[in-house]
Amino acid sequence: ARAEKGGHRHFMAKEIHEQPQTLKDVLELYIEGDRIVPPAEVDFAALSRLTIVACGTAHIAGTVAKYWFERIARLPVECDIASEYRYRDPVIDPAGAVMLISQSGETADTLAAMRHAAGEAASILSVVNVPTSSIARESDVAFPIAAGVEVGVASTKAFMNQLAVLLCLAILAGRQRGTLDAEREAELVSELRRLPGLVSQALAIESRCADLASWLAEASDILFLGRGPMFPLAHEGALKLKEISYIHAEAYASGELKHGPIALVDRSLPVVVFAPSDALFDKTVSNVQEVMAREGQVLLVTDAEGAAAGGQGCRDILTMPDCDPMVTPLLYAVPAQLLAYHTAVHKGTDVDQPRNLAKSVTVE
Ligand code: G6P
Repeated sequence: ARAEKGGHRHFMAKEIHEQPQTLKDVLELYIEGDRIVPPAEVDFAALSRLTIVACGTAHIAGTVAKYWFERIARLPVECDIASEYRYRDPVIDPAGAVMLISQSGETADTLAAMRHAAGEAASILSVVNVPTSSIARESDVAFPIAAGVEVGVASTKAFMNQLAVLLCLAILAGRQRGTLDAEREAELVSELRRLPGLVSQALAIESRCADLASWLAEASDILFLGRGPMFPLAHEGALKLKEISYIHAEAYASGELKHGPIALVDRSLPVVVFAPSDALFDKTVSNVQEVMAREGQVLLVTDAEGAAAGGQGCRDILTMPDCDPMVTPLLYAVPAQLLAYHTAVHKGTDVDQPRNLAKSVTVE
């Protein structure tokens, strides 16, 4: 059985380690030279807005995409959970597109949301891993993510490739809407080409994550913090941890800490902070100091510059490779996955088949 897991203990570990390759595979589909050339046609220029609808990890990918589409393409984005969207009688803008994100392409709530919007929105786009799935077949334009078969219930390589496709589409949208010049497009594309290598480098923190697992596995609650596009990554870290280690975890926007969750902070609370040294770094560091002043135990996930500038007093630091702030969400998915994985392994839970969860939820 270990052979089908590529020599790894679990499918999840195999899939985490496949990411440099699966990322390369998907980028080949979307990049030509120094430009984005997607495998399916889409025109973002005339859209009034983009509504992204998904469940679980795919929804988290959508919340990252909101930052990209708004920042790079100045396209207003709303991102909703499929089970909420479909029942709240949403206002569907006929000049806007609805985009479904789904690994399986069969999630009942996402499929129903798509059918609800069909015929009302300008177009129905999908970002799906299984090309023969219902969502891929029924949407107007389906964007493949080419992650290959994902077996682990907790999504890893599909999340990574969803992010890659969404970033490529946001760059394309920027070009089409005239908010991104050719030079910046080429710069982002070259950063995307570097990503598989950066993800390989990031995987080198694995043994550190395994060491940290004995501390995290003792906790009854863990807080994840992040700002900007790192806020969704905090959600992904918390979701993965809950799913496979059964430890209660919560994600908060760093700046929102003072409006509630800071009341939880004491010595027993690990606080994982995703904070690359970007424009928001200093703000996040001041939130980290608020946590440390209350004896909260901080694990700072940052780059070398961030470690030097904001690492003082943290319980531990995971140092990630440097990259353009626009691509950090892909890179910081790696520590989110590895911390959850090793904490679960330490606890001895069934990593690939966590209790009560299914890979694809085809009922309501
Ligand atoms: C299930 C899985 C999650 C997944 C979600 C959405 O709950 O356990 O890992 O993110 O469904 O699945 P989809 O196939 O639509 O991406």
